[in-house]
Amino acid sequence: MNKNEFTAVVPVAGAGTRLRPHTYTYPKVLLTVGDKPIIGHILDEIAASGVRKICLVTGYLGDKIKEYVGRNYPGLGISYVEQPEPRGLGHAIWLTRRAVTGPVMVMLGDTIISADLGKFLSSKDDCIAVKEVADPRRFGVVEVKGGYISGMVEKPEHPKTNLAIVGIYSFHNCALLYNSLERLVDSSKTTKGEIQFTDALAALVRGGHKLKPIPIAGWYDCGKPETLLETNRYILDSGKFPHKTKNSLVIPPVYISPTATVENSIVGPYVSIGDGARVDSSIISDSIVNEKASILNINLSGSLIGPSAAIIGRKDQLNVGENSEIKFDRTACD
Ligand code: G1P
Repeated sequence: MNKNEFTAVVPVAGAGTRLRPHTYTYPKVLLTVGDKPIIGHILDEIAASGVRKICLVTGYLGDKIKEYVGRNYPGLGISYVEQPEPRGLGHAIWLTRRAVTGPVMVMLGDTIISADLGKFLSSKDDCIAVKEVADPRRFGVVEVKGGYISGMVEKPEHPKTNLAIVGIYSFHNCALLYNSLERLVDSSKTTKGEIQFTDALAALVRGGHKLKPIPIAGWYDCGKPETLLETNRYILDSGKFPHKTKNSLVIPPVYISPTATVENSIVGPYVSIGDGARVDSSIISDSIVNEKASILNINLSGSLIGPSAAIIGRKDQLNVGENSEIKFDRTACD
């Protein structure tokens, strides 16, 4: 099967509740990680794999996603399907049934990977990416027998294995997948209140369909603030980004957008500063400063600063005599 016959379905309709407050006004996939928003990394990955048709399922704050993608990826063949209510991943993918023919790849909207997608797509089998994780309870979990999936459960309380579903799936015949989703939607069966993609796949497996697990070592989650910062560190480590600052010290790796202003500051390591952001008289490490945010007179680490947010610290003036002791950190008094 030729890779460019595949359509990539990318569901990006979710509300990203674990990333609140950022996602109150911004869809999760537009949050910056490394040198661009999450969706930018995913679209670049898909384009590099040779896939030429992409279908995005939008919902929550979908217009902002369309605006970003339209502006930055005008050359990619992207179509949109709307998920009007948040009824789950299985429902989101089922909604694309009329927009897709032939082979289909599903790539979840918060799945940044370092893997050869082309290799994944050239397998003769239908495939699902998996990774061993320490605690698989917040993922779909698979069991494997004889080299193929023998069972799968969405977010089990007592997982039978620690093989988690990464969020990339390929099917040579999309009709098979959509029929299973159709049966699930018609049955109104939900798990944890949602129509789950994992349930539709589990039904196919129970019916004897062969689904091959493909281990993916480089999987970088963007679902929670700590994992977003972890992914930011990985992306900054794996690239070299030119930067321009004024009267500042930069400790690599960092990404500073060419339209950001950094003055009189110490920036890095692991800092990403988005378009039009402004950093002045500050010390920042291990943080993401989204577009148009401004940071003044502050020392920040392990922080996520939302688009257009303003953080203004303080500059103290002291007149201190001999043998005085001044502590601003209250915990240091204990
Ligand atoms: C979804 C899938 C789950 C998978 C996970 C990967 O869950 O339902 O099977 O393991 O993505 O991130 P979600 O993170 O949308 O709750």
